[in-house]
Amino acid sequence: MDLSIQDFIQLRDLIYDRTGIHFGENKIYYVKKRLQKRMGMGGFDSVEAYLKHLKWFDRESQEFQQLVNLLTVNETYFFREFSQLQVFGEACLQQVTRRKLEMGVPTLKIFCAGCSTGEEAYTLAIILLEMLEGISPKQTIIKAVDIDENVLAAARQGIYDRRSVKDVPPLYLERYFTSPAPGQYMVNPEVREMVVFEHLNLMDHRALRYENNYDFIFCRNVLIYFDDLSRKKVVDRFYTMLNQGGFIFLGHAESLSRMSTAYKIRKMHGQIVYQA
Ligand SMILES: C[S@@+](CC[C@H](N)C(=O)[O-])C[C@H]1O[C@@H](n2cnc3c(N)ncnc32)[C@H](O)[C@@H]1O
Repeated sequence: MDLSIQDFIQLRDLIYDRTGIHFGENKIYYVKKRLQKRMGMGGFDSVEAYLKHLKWFDRESQEFQQLVNLLTVNETYFFREFSQLQVFGEACLQQVTRRKLEMGVPTLKIFCAGCSTGEEAYTLAIILLEMLEGISPKQTIIKAVDIDENVLAAARQGIYDRRSVKDVPPLYLERYFTSPAPGQYMVNPEVREMVVFEHLNLMDHRALRYENNYDFIFCRNVLIYFDDLSRKKVVDRFYTMLNQGGFIFLGHAESLSRMSTAYKIRKMHGQIVYQA
């Protein structure tokens, strides 16, 4: 299959417009390999025909979704970026809980954006079970969303391999997992019940319109695949989704102050955190 630079640009612009994910020209082979696979499965004989299909005939965006499922980078594991989770669990959580209890609202809502196969959302649930005081875990909700349907199916299963759990503290591994087979780790029902997984595209403003009153938003290692403009759109949207005093956590490599000036910068436990 030949992929001309013109066709690549058409395709990557379409992907960018619909998902915010940006592929530079150095990613042409990455895209080509996945495109080839989809074209083979759909019986398309030219990139032109495939592009035409995506633009005009892919009514429910089924083919586009299949392509996106192949293009996303889903690397993740439990307790990723531990020091950030420590600030969340040991400082931010207490501050927000105290405020909510003072307001007489003993609930907690967390949005986990770009959750991939679920490790991050379940990690947050475990931290709540360990650290939360004054609010019952039953009064908390972690909504975990991703654009990729395949990772969400895996997340709902909640079964992981050794690599995924390598950073789980041994005590928590014992407390919150069972092993259905050697080398497999299944998240306990008590943790699973706290998380709801949903298919959602962060660039879909209509879908995000209903997402409000969050106390925390985690969107770690997702915006690195976006360009500056789509990053800004998403973090500005997140600002409106957060309660006043709520916190947002991006990955270590992603500096929020470059994307938006709406958030207040705080230093807690020696780390920079951002608050609405
Ligand atoms: C590298 S994973 C990060 C997983 C996890 N947050 C972590 O830090 O370990 C990035 C995830 O973002 C998802 N993603 C990319 N673009 C998205 C979009 N527009 N809407 C929702 N999810 C998206 C991908 O499907 C992928 O699963």
